[in-house]
Amino acid sequence: MCGIIGFSGVRKVPASLIMEGLKRLEYRGYDSAGIAWQVHSKIRIRKCAGKVDKLWEALPANLELRSGIAHTRWATHGAPTDTNAHPHTDSPQRIAVVHNGVIDNYRALKRMLESNGHRFTTETDTEVLAHLIAEQLNGSIEEAICRALREVEGTYGIAVIHAGEPDKIVAARRGSPLIVGIGEEGSFIASDAVAMVGRAERIVHLEDGDIAVISGKDHEIRRASGGIATISDWSRLDIPPTVADKAGYPHYMLKEIMEQPEALEDCFRGRVQREFGTARLGGLNMMPRDFLEIDRVRLLGCGTSYMASCVGARMISDLARIETTAEYAPEHRHSNPIVRKSALFFAVSQSGETTDTIMALREVMRKGGKVLGIVNRVASTIARETGAGIYVHAGFEYAVASTKTMLNTMMGLFLFGLLVGRMRDLSLARGRELIDAVSELPDKIRQILAMRDEFRSVAEHFSGSENFYFLGRGYSYPVAMEGALKLKEIAYVHAEGYSAAEMKHGPIALIDETFASVFVIPRDSVYERTLTNLQEIRARKGPVLTITTGETDDLESLSDRILVLPQTDEILLPFLTTVAVQLFAYEFAAQRGCPIDQPKNLAKSVTVE
Ligand code: F6R
Repeated sequence: MCGIIGFSGVRKVPASLIMEGLKRLEYRGYDSAGIAWQVHSKIRIRKCAGKVDKLWEALPANLELRSGIAHTRWATHGAPTDTNAHPHTDSPQRIAVVHNGVIDNYRALKRMLESNGHRFTTETDTEVLAHLIAEQLNGSIEEAICRALREVEGTYGIAVIHAGEPDKIVAARRGSPLIVGIGEEGSFIASDAVAMVGRAERIVHLEDGDIAVISGKDHEIRRASGGIATISDWSRLDIPPTVADKAGYPHYMLKEIMEQPEALEDCFRGRVQREFGTARLGGLNMMPRDFLEIDRVRLLGCGTSYMASCVGARMISDLARIETTAEYAPEHRHSNPIVRKSALFFAVSQSGETTDTIMALREVMRKGGKVLGIVNRVASTIARETGAGIYVHAGFEYAVASTKTMLNTMMGLFLFGLLVGRMRDLSLARGRELIDAVSELPDKIRQILAMRDEFRSVAEHFSGSENFYFLGRGYSYPVAMEGALKLKEIAYVHAEGYSAAEMKHGPIALIDETFASVFVIPRDSVYERTLTNLQEIRARKGPVLTITTGETDDLESLSDRILVLPQTDEILLPFLTTVAVQLFAYEFAAQRGCPIDQPKNLAKSVTVE
């Protein structure tokens, strides 16, 4: 989603310092970009629809600057045009603002400002902020911002410069992440720490209501809670400089698919305890007795985190015999949720910054419910607000389409199920059996990844299809939904995930020789039932790709192509079948020449509701 980078240096630096940071934010998804800087107490702006490289080309040759703010925009209010791109200014261009978030009352504010003589040139909500701050300007820019923000309803992460105060950048946050960083060359403001990689050494996450003022190496963070940020608020920036490296792969998505054996191991190594057939999850901060009191678990997430939650809910129910459900976070929030003392909630999110999930967890917390996080990004908003939970340790995920975090999130939830299960009815022998099976998963995933040529050939076979059902039952049902999501996201074809059992209740009406079905049908307890559903599709001449394990005799005549994966314990099958649907979607999109790492209309971290 939108990205912000601001820099204030101790001396002039080439503009590339900011532009490289902006490029590192490209992975979040955007449709226009812009930058503002000061020259002799005047603000200069360049902005355009399209890519950061286009903006870079539009900058004056050899531009050097002491400070500047830059932005990648993912359009919410107003089309992705040059005019609507950020930064936005007041009419005399004394103030420039970049903004992530949504100003809910911008229409009312605009009417009020227009009646005071302000003239607007864009369709954005952000332009209102620039005029509102200008209206309040009567002293320092930070005071004007504080006064202006009192009028604002909605969410924001903003960085602001003022022509009259060279090299000073002021940032403020409510509901949209912002981080202050400091390094050798000066200070930074960014919406994502990745923008400062290789430049900032120490960082501090702003909390809602904080105001940060940076100028060269000077910085002051005024906490909403009162007082100024102290040394203990700062931490090291621990993202490796190689984070934006594709390691020789054509796409980040493929690199991250290939990283899965090691990433998964990073999630369970040190946490499984074979001797006791259980798992240790210190980050939960719970006493053994607390686990015994849980009688319901709710997993709240969006997109792929929701799909991982659907798998995880089945795992926890099976292992711990606790009623567990997964719900779309925004649907849960707006359902006037029932929150009981004995229920445990998990906010499930790769980025830890998804607004829908944050708002859902706040609603549960407001009602007194206990919420833990299942998060990949360390120190993200969800990790900080829940204060306890499970880090899934997938490493940095750069591709917009989530892959390795799905596997690691499922593993985090599996480990939770194992831990609680072993405190209830799960036997030591079964716990050990599962741990042994888990430790074999990385090698089995490697075997699937080694089948890449086969996946490519299968993708080629189906490359003409414009419609797909992804079908599975039991543990394979959420995997089928994830397969459909991946194909839609990166290949732009119509794909729907269904329970294979549900087909005959309506969706089968669409099946003919042009409508393809991907069956996720490993050898498990629902294999025979799924086979019946496969026959129903075949009887209607639907083309079929079968993803299975073990013998294929009864599938040969029912499938156009078959992919055979290694076998594992039924409860762990999603760790293998998910990799298969990811790789199929990737190879399919690659055949069609799609921009896999920058899918249209999508953003990596969705920070609006
Ligand atoms: C799918 C995808 C999105 C995210 C969703 C939630 O490939 O990436 O559907 O899964 O936006 O994001 P997080 O997990 O960061 O909360």
